[in-house]
Amino acid sequence: MKGVILAGGTGSRLEKLTSVLNKHLVAVGEVPMIEYPLNTLVQMGVKDIAVVTGAEHAGTVVQYLTKEHEEIDFTYKIQKKAGGIAEALSLTENIYHGEKIIVILGDNIFEGNFSEEARKFEESKLGAMLFLKKVNIDEAKRFGIAIVEGDKVKYVEEKPAEPKSNLAMTGLYMFDSEIFNKIRQLHRSARGELEITDAIEKYVQEGNCGYGFVDGFWSDAGTHSSRKFAEDYIYKKGKEFWNKKSI
Ligand code: G1P
Repeated sequence: MKGVILAGGTGSRLEKLTSVLNKHLVAVGEVPMIEYPLNTLVQMGVKDIAVVTGAEHAGTVVQYLTKEHEEIDFTYKIQKKAGGIAEALSLTENIYHGEKIIVILGDNIFEGNFSEEARKFEESKLGAMLFLKKVNIDEAKRFGIAIVEGDKVKYVEEKPAEPKSNLAMTGLYMFDSEIFNKIRQLHRSARGELEITDAIEKYVQEGNCGYGFVDGFWSDAGTHSSRKFAEDYIYKKGKEFWNKKSI
């Protein structure tokens, strides 16, 4: 399968670290943040990766990835204004037309290996697959949440004020090529964005959205506190964290 790293946005929640640095090059432990989602995709067997970056310091992302990861075939797209995750993903339609894709948010850090799930999704008839993690109910307010029944997702909601579930949607998704048609049907949310959760809801309504649980550590690193939380965990694990990785 092909991969997409969504590394757009302005990084305002990481000011002032992002004043002269692209958000996804901010360090988490000893490497830039983008190394973690990149590793997760490579572990899943992906070698072609589209990177969608914001316009701010986009050149440095290209420079970094070209220098450090010669082995990967990158394609780049620039998201000119922060218009949401779904909008960023739509920019890759002309690259990955008709293919199943793995999409990961550039600020999401996973410890686990999801290569088995990727293989199963590729062979399955599912339209979408989410990776869920149990969080405490107060934390759930800061994420998209999901309710599941049997082997399908029955309900999703983005950043609920009163979460009906403590299952957070992590920033790792697998989609069939219908995702682009679904994004085309979206309307902007109250925060002016095309929300990935609204596109996922369309698969949920069709009974075509599966899920898996995330084993091991997961955090985003897009705020000062979550970046520190992830970094503390990575330092605590030391080499063990990276030893599980393929590059
Ligand atoms: C995004 C998604 C949300 C998901 C989260 C995971 O939120 O919209 O559904 O739970 O990533 O990190 P954002 O980071 O844009 O607030």
